[in-house]
Amino acid sequence: MAHVLVIGTQWGDEGKGKIVDILAERADIVARFQGGPNAGHTVVVEGQKFVLHMIPSGILRPGKKCVIGNGVVVDPEALIHEIETLRTRGVEVDDNLLISMNAHLIMPYHKILDQEGERRLGSKRIGTTHRGIGPAYADKMAKKGILVGDLLDEHLFAEKLRMNLVEKNFLLENFYHIAPLDFEEVFSHFMNYREVIGKYITDTRSFLHQAIKEGKNILYEGAQGTMLDVDHGTYPFVTSSNSSAGGVFCGLGIPPRCLDLVVGVAKAYTTRVGAGPLPTELDNTLGETMRRRGGEFGSTTGRPRRCGWLDIVVLKHSLWINGVDCLALTKLDVLDGFKEINICVGYRYRGKTFTEMPGELKVLQDGQPVYKTLKGWQESTVGITDYRRLPPRARDYVELIAGMLETRIDMISTGSERKETIFLTEGG
Ligand code: GDP
Ligand code: IMO
Ligand code: MG
Repeated sequence: MAHVLVIGTQWGDEGKGKIVDILAERADIVARFQGGPNAGHTVVVEGQKFVLHMIPSGILRPGKKCVIGNGVVVDPEALIHEIETLRTRGVEVDDNLLISMNAHLIMPYHKILDQEGERRLGSKRIGTTHRGIGPAYADKMAKKGILVGDLLDEHLFAEKLRMNLVEKNFLLENFYHIAPLDFEEVFSHFMNYREVIGKYITDTRSFLHQAIKEGKNILYEGAQGTMLDVDHGTYPFVTSSNSSAGGVFCGLGIPPRCLDLVVGVAKAYTTRVGAGPLPTELDNTLGETMRRRGGEFGSTTGRPRRCGWLDIVVLKHSLWINGVDCLALTKLDVLDGFKEINICVGYRYRGKTFTEMPGELKVLQDGQPVYKTLKGWQESTVGITDYRRLPPRARDYVELIAGMLETRIDMISTGSERKETIFLTEGG
């Protein structure tokens, strides 16, 4: 097992939570390195559905240490809610959770600025999750952020909060014309949060350093997907962190050479929540069928996800950016009923066909997808665990994808339950 990174290869919601939950069985530690409560990772264990937002999906496996790394942005109010929800459902959250003292806090003004900023953009909005992600990362980069560890030093926290409120309240009142935030109120809320989460705050960098030295098995859990990466995605229709493989090193403080395996998670078709280009989008009854069959509604916001065919150009880009060693192909069962299945192999734009990810957003926005069409298998694959039991046409689909991408597919998911999985090689 050693060091395994699980990364989303599309626009998020590929089924990373399920794959992490499976691989976590063999891990000692599961660590998140970027994103925040914008993520929604669903794990279904014997009919019980859990949605994780900031806490690594490994929390559902007793005895595993779960790390929220320095690259994550932490909303303490949402985190406490997540901890309490897990506890009421019998999941242990105690000294198995570690939160980096160097992670940045999502403050109430970040959430307001996210919402108001989106409102102001009108039809040009990104369609963010309104969780304050962009403003929190913006403050981190502008060196105005408040660290999780600052909560432990009341005076430092108060000083940073005061300084931030001067600027943020000016914006709220004079630019957005809404009520300012009250220092005392925010301060006292955060001191209450400290009572609950204070005991989890630690130096996760040195914890991981030690764990690596001791040869522990570590699973790194990506959030969002490569096409939402702030550098390598469809900017500006992206999230505000590096959700591709590169993020793991800075987001946890681990050395680049320590990864042994990169597992890319790819859904058998494509979805996206929020605005921005989606070249294979099916804005018709086929898309609606995919949404209904795949339950494609946001785990965080409940918004309907936009659906479309699998996009090989996107996957090629992701495989390269992340150095993917093998794929976990999820939700194959959702394609069961389709008469024909398309795979996008390029974009046609102004007389030219692009088979590699173009640098300009315009090609993705206005280009026409070029499809290879296959006959559908039209029988159920739900819950199949043996590759040989898949309908021949479903196997053709899987093998065509592996061939086009020149990669291994080590796992195929045929349902949301842990056990509804086909394992093809040991890497999975
Ligand atoms: P994540 O954000 O990448 O972890 O993905 P989400 O949890 O947001 O969305 C994936 C959804 O698909 C969840 O509701 C999963 O329970 C579900 N799911 C995962 N794998 C499969 C599968 O193979 N088949 C079906 N039908 N559902 C799946
Ligand atoms: P998981 O980890 C799908 C999208 C939002 C929006 C854009 C920016 O569950 O795969 P943000 O709130 O991050 O500033 O929003 O990114 N987005 C996601 N889409 N899955 C996610 O996470 C996402 N996290 C953010 O919908 O388009
Ligand atoms: Mg999700």
